[in-house]
Amino acid sequence: MDILVVGTGYVGTTTALIFAEQGHRVTGLDVDTNKIENLQAGKLHFYETGLEELLNKHLQQKNIVFTTNVEKGIQNNEIIYICVGTPQKEDGSANLIYVEQVAKSIGKLMNGYKTVVTKSTVPVGTAEKVTEWIKESQITPYEYDVVSNPEFLREGSALYDALHPDRIVVGALTKRAFQKMREVFGAVSFPYLETTPRASELIKYAANSFLALKISYINELARLCDRLNINVRDVAKGMGLDKRIGTSFLEAGIGYGGSCFPKDVNALLDAANQYGVTLSILKSAINVNKTQPFYVLEKMKQVLGSLKGKTIAILGLSFKANTDDIREASSLIVIDYLLKEGVNIKIHDPVVTLSSSCFKQYETVEETVTNADAVLICTDWSQYKDFAWETIKDKIANPIIFDGRNCLNAEKIKHSGFIYRGVAYP
Ligand code: UGA
Repeated sequence: MDILVVGTGYVGTTTALIFAEQGHRVTGLDVDTNKIENLQAGKLHFYETGLEELLNKHLQQKNIVFTTNVEKGIQNNEIIYICVGTPQKEDGSANLIYVEQVAKSIGKLMNGYKTVVTKSTVPVGTAEKVTEWIKESQITPYEYDVVSNPEFLREGSALYDALHPDRIVVGALTKRAFQKMREVFGAVSFPYLETTPRASELIKYAANSFLALKISYINELARLCDRLNINVRDVAKGMGLDKRIGTSFLEAGIGYGGSCFPKDVNALLDAANQYGVTLSILKSAINVNKTQPFYVLEKMKQVLGSLKGKTIAILGLSFKANTDDIREASSLIVIDYLLKEGVNIKIHDPVVTLSSSCFKQYETVEETVTNADAVLICTDWSQYKDFAWETIKDKIANPIIFDGRNCLNAEKIKHSGFIYRGVAYP
């Protein structure tokens, strides 16, 4: 099929490449000329394992093309995926301005029937708004369907997730729309849920919020485990082996970040408030997450005393491993706090570079931790897990590691002569 993907950000580019991989002819459209030129030249503007190779493969096979030509993009494709950003407004709600602009362009420029699909995370009721926006901007009243098909992939494992989804959710209102979407996905070996656009839109927020809730639950439980000298990882495992609970998203740490959980939990809370429903459980999850980096920093203070004038090596800037995304990353909260405390900060990240006159970033872990009073791990990069810590113990002023991701082998680290402090990981 001929598929247009509007918005070549993280989700849009991945979606476009997966469709190309599935044998569709895909056009990626964006207003950002720079992005489009780079993509057309085979260069990805974000870090994601395996995606650049896929991009080059499909550029060579000529089944994907990138353009800024809105008119041609809309007119040459029957299926139009909207993958533009829905940034958070001051009040926590999702800003739909870019979705509106795309919908209105579709209305104005369409030249026949279109299936318009929202992939971006959008509030309940957006499909109805998109329907209206298209209708009010139409010059000729061509028929169209609006569908919700949310994305569930994770940064850092986007390709794998997109190729092996746990499920596909399609929200539509007409038989024709459901049929078109079945043609888009072909025969699939994973669960395929057909529902209404409203339910589909809510599923996305509800799923992300539930995962955030799971993390906040284990993080709060970790505080109790710390008091009782219990290993939270054992507790998580013991709980998670119950199939009704599941082991994933029960890793305690310095808190969740990224462009999705913090934004989506807020947006769901805000949307519920508008309908007069208080999702108090989400309020608590947000509160636990906001305080979690400070919980880790407090532990640091308990061990080091006053932090003023101390040198702390921060390992990891991205909000999780295998991505260069630092949006809402715990590292940023930690850096901000430590600077205010008068700490000298040394930084390392394998892919992210932060330039600031307030701290220095180093190329290697070794340089970063040399002469530090303590090391704080904010991201679970494999570079830190696999690092030969025993080789640098003598270079650190105080061999103390605060593992904000519980990602090191505590036994091994302690055996190497370090003081190790994880999050309820004794
Ligand atoms: C999340 C969801 O997992 C995806 O299903 C969803 O499609 C995506 O948001 C989205 O809405 O676009 P993502 O934000 O890329 O994906 O990353 P996650 O792997 O979910 O991690 C989010 C944060 O939670 C990270 O900071 C991670 O370190 C933290 N986390 C995760 C924990 O602290 N503990 C865990 O057990 C798991």
